[in-house]
Order: sequence, then structure tokens, then C-alpha cells
Amino acid sequence: MGIAKDYFVGNEDLLDVVRRDRSNIYESRLLLLHRALTTKAPGTILSIGAGAGTYELDLQERYGIHVELSLEPSAGFVQSARSKGLNVLQAGAQDYDYPEGFYDTIVYNGSSFGFIEDDELEATLRRNWESLRPGGRIILQDVPLESALGILLKAFQDFPELAENKDYRELLDGTVFYDLPPYKPFWHTTRYYIELLEKVGFSNFSYFQTVLANPPYEDETVEEPIEGYDKGSYVAIVAEK
Ligand SMILES: C[S@@+](CC[C@H](N)C(=O)[O-])C[C@H]1O[C@@H](n2cnc3c(N)ncnc32)[C@H](O)[C@@H]1O
Repeated sequence: MGIAKDYFVGNEDLLDVVRRDRSNIYESRLLLLHRALTTKAPGTILSIGAGAGTYELDLQERYGIHVELSLEPSAGFVQSARSKGLNVLQAGAQDYDYPEGFYDTIVYNGSSFGFIEDDELEATLRRNWESLRPGGRIILQDVPLESALGILLKAFQDFPELAENKDYRELLDGTVFYDLPPYKPFWHTTRYYIELLEKVGFSNFSYFQTVLANPPYEDETVEEPIEGYDKGSYVAIVAEK
């Protein structure tokens, strides 16, 4: 398997800035993450692709939910997360030497699984499966391809000239992508990930979604998550071993 790339060189403060400048979206996402994490007692948690550790710190401070270990390949984010007191290993999901049957919860927050090469994802999820205790859960939190935000971001990624068109550019102003080239290397629908998790052996699925507002209005209010995956620009899949 390949060594994870650092996609965020020169953008080390990005996630802390977004937390500050789009705080309602951040809060909606934190509520979503909390809802997904608490379908049962979260137990020993591994966070994969933790970025600057903003969510891991808030889970600890707001809810007393402790993340045992965070994996993060980007050197700048590792430094930032460590400065928040988190236990972070500089590694991608493919690179970690997973202990067998150890974790109760493995969480990918903020589409971090969308940075793993398509041809490495299934094998990585199988290693996640092996590392979970029986009854343990995996959580995939994503901006799905088919969501309002996903459609827009994928279009900007595939057709960068859209950024020069004011009508399209302004649609992003109310999102966390107001000031940056949106980028996620691998995009799939929620159903694609559900089928992949089923193939690996996961079952007992539940789904939560938030930020149902259209892109220009995403940061206007904090939204409570609701069940399902067919509307939100942010969706969490929870599945059990
Ligand atoms: C959009 S950011 C989300 C960060 C954080 N979880 C959040 O929600 O704020 C995606 C993260 O995935 C990380 N990442 C990239 N490749 C990865 C890989 N192969 N394995 C795990 N994480 C990866 C990136 O460095 C980045 O921190």
C-alpha cells in the first residue's frame, strides 16, 4: 500500500480558521459527529485523518469523549493537533500498524477516507474491521457526492474555470469553502460506501445527516442532525462489526 500524501502543505491553519469563520457549520458538524459516536458507548476511539484535532478537542471538552489516538499524515496538522494536547501519530490510514481487536470505535471525520486511493480503500477498511472489537463501530462522515455541496464542489474540482464565474463562485460563500480551492481526490455516493462496508462485513447500519440548507445559507444557523442520508451536505454512516 502507498504512503499517505500531505495535501495541506502551506495550509496548516485552514481547519482552525474554518472553525472560527464558519462556526455554525462547525457546530452542526460537531452535533452530527456526537450523534454518530453515541449510538452506543464509544469506548476506545481511533480517529483517522484528524486534521488539526479541532473536533477531537471539542469532543473532550464539551462531552468528555476521549479519543485514544488520532492518525494524521499532514505534518502541519499533526503539530497543530499535538499543541492541543492530543495523542497523534503521523500516519495515513493505510500506513498504521493496527492492533487486532482493540478499538470500540474507528471514526473518519471530514471525508478523510476520500483521500485514500480508490484501490486501497477496501483493504484499509478490512484492516479497520480487524482492529475493532466484536460489536465495535466504524463511522464515515462525508460530504457526499450527491449532496448539494458535493455536486458543487465536484463541479469546481472538475471545471476550475467555474471559479471565474461570479454566479457559481458566490454559491460557495456561505460554505466552509468560501476561500479555498475545494479539493477531495476521491468522490463517491453514500450508497457506494454503504455497499463497500457491507462487502467488508459491517452490518447494523444507521445514518445521520445535517446542514440541509442550500450552500449559500449553510452557515446561517446551527442545525440538529436528523436520521437518514438523502438530504444533508454532511452525512455520517455508522456500521457495526
Ligand atoms: C478535510 S480534512 C478533515 C480533517 C478533520 N477530520 C476535520 O474534520 O476537520 C481531511 C483529512 O484527511 C487527511 N488525510 C489525507 N490522506 C489521508 C490518509 N491516507 N489517511 C488518513 N487521513 C488522510 C488529511 O491530511 C486531512 O487532515
